[in-house]
Amino acid sequence: MSINVIAIDGPAASGKGTLARRLAAHYGFHHLDTGLTYRAVAHELIETGASLDDEALAARTALSIDFSALDRNILSAHEIGEAASKVAVMPQVRKALVEAQRRFAATPPGTVLDGRDIGTVVCPDAPVKLYVTASPEVRAGRRAAEMAATGQPTDYDQVLADIRRRDARDSGRSDSPLKPADDAHLLDTSEMTIEAAFEAACAIADAALNRN
Ligand code: DC
Repeated sequence: MSINVIAIDGPAASGKGTLARRLAAHYGFHHLDTGLTYRAVAHELIETGASLDDEALAARTALSIDFSALDRNILSAHEIGEAASKVAVMPQVRKALVEAQRRFAATPPGTVLDGRDIGTVVCPDAPVKLYVTASPEVRAGRRAAEMAATGQPTDYDQVLADIRRRDARDSGRSDSPLKPADDAHLLDTSEMTIEAAFEAACAIADAALNRN
């Protein structure tokens, strides 16, 4: 594996995606939002009218996903996220996607991967590990503001309930649950701007990648 890997984990709407994109641009590294890979499997199953409970079929679908063609605009739909969190509990799906994610992680000159199990399972040897979090209320507020900005109907209480349900599913599953790696740096962004979180992350990454 490439030694220049920045592994970012955290719950839904913690700000990890924005942070990952900014770090990738800053260091000139390739970026993979691994959530999109689980979403792509769910999307393909939904499009073909297949059951979301058939693990063998979902695993075969996972093997066929082209990481260079993940379309955030299509895959960010709410119902695809719900379906993704169901296929993400399937060990055979995780095995197929994790192998492909590890190959991506080795792309020179370096990579930033964000998800739920990057520092713990996908890239346990990554020199930089960040665990980005924020309170459920702050995350729900950010997600609701994002939805309102794109003209979608928004109900804060419902967004908060969704976030709590997704947290419980992501943290409670037996295979690769969401949790910080022992050696991850914790970044609680509840009371931080994205700029402050970016500065803090750069300081950690610069030190680990010997960039200062
Ligand atoms: O971050 P997201 O909402 O796009 O993720 C979609 C689902 O995929 C979510 O329920 C968690 C799951 N996921 C995962 O299990 N492991 C990852 N590395 C990334 C996402």
